[in-house]
Amino acid sequence: MTNPSLLILPGDGIGPEVMTEVRKIIDWFGAKRGITFDVSEDLVGGCAYDKHGTPLHDDTMAKAQEVDAVLLGAVGGPKYDNLDFSVKPERGLLRLRKEMDLFSNLRPAQCFDALADFSSLKKDVVAGLDIMIVRELTSGVYFGEPRGIFEEGNERVGINTQRYTESEIDRVARSAFDLAMKRGKKLCSMEKANVMESGILWREVVTEVGKDYPEVELSHMYADAGAMQLTRWPKQFDVIVTDNLFGDLLSDLAAMLTGSLGMLPSASLGAPMDNGRPKALYEPVHGSAPDIAGQGKANPCACILSFAMALRYSFDMGEEATRVEQAVNKVLGDGVRTADLLNEEGITPATTAEMGDAVIAA
Ligand code: NAI
Ligand code: MG
Repeated sequence: MTNPSLLILPGDGIGPEVMTEVRKIIDWFGAKRGITFDVSEDLVGGCAYDKHGTPLHDDTMAKAQEVDAVLLGAVGGPKYDNLDFSVKPERGLLRLRKEMDLFSNLRPAQCFDALADFSSLKKDVVAGLDIMIVRELTSGVYFGEPRGIFEEGNERVGINTQRYTESEIDRVARSAFDLAMKRGKKLCSMEKANVMESGILWREVVTEVGKDYPEVELSHMYADAGAMQLTRWPKQFDVIVTDNLFGDLLSDLAAMLTGSLGMLPSASLGAPMDNGRPKALYEPVHGSAPDIAGQGKANPCACILSFAMALRYSFDMGEEATRVEQAVNKVLGDGVRTADLLNEEGITPATTAEMGDAVIAA
């Protein structure tokens, strides 16, 4: 059997700093558990532009298509703000998402016990929360035609079109059901079938796909009611699947139930490859944080937890993923905090490396 392969793209700003801590964890698995990954590393974003004049070299793109999973840090920074749109660092990331056809965006909202005080909601509402929002990422109202601003009579009209084909709904639904099978076997689909035809079709197709997953308990909810339920009692959910627009809003809402940007991982999945694994890109939700870059202040947990997602969803190493997540939970419980996780004065924050080392020790 060949080793699972991983392409690491640290990127810009704090990207390389947080990725250094992930490398420590990868090395730990090799040394202590005999789990070896074929790791390669390459450039994306501003650093790739500096070297090649493009934010993503064709060779890097080709490599990304071949590996089992890609792990990305972050791209961008003030140095690149005045670059032409076509070579901006973000274009590297967009090209990866587009050419890998990553239609299923996974955004977990997971509340670590020690951080429950960070939420704007009551502690018992969020403590122990662990839900996953699956957002369709490549279709819907952000892409549908016709779109534009047109003249109509003596005024202008702005038009965007919500459009979903059956196959687009089918594939994201399957990805959500597959996830539900690896988690709590509960899936809630959200749309607005009461006022949108695309929502009626969404509900029909998801229901149809559900027949292939008899073990998963499927429910449906209007997305506006879903927003209310997410703030009222989020623990009623396990996996939520929804379209691009509603998913954009609901995933940001759910993320903030649990605190800091420095703690939030994500995954974007595509169609299954020949080996049955989905094409996959894992990355923290945060950006390159130029305000703290190079100072050892960045919280590496979002990137570490993104690697844990890769273990679970690309490599079928659910136990190892849980081990990483529990280590993070323990470290936080022990009171180790990077600066973003401190809201009181007088405590010396942990550095990026200290946080990573504490996770290893745990
Ligand atoms: P940002 O996420 O980089 O930073 C927002 C705030 O959160 C900053 O105060 C930052 O210090 C803090 N922060 C972010 N991650 C942190 C971490 N791991 N630990 C501690 N604090 C953290 O978003 P911003 O400032 O809007 O964008 C900065 C640059 O990043 C821009 O060039 C932007 O285009 C790029 N960006 C890249 C993304 C990506 O690579 N996926 C996503 C978002 C922004
Ligand atoms: Mg958003």
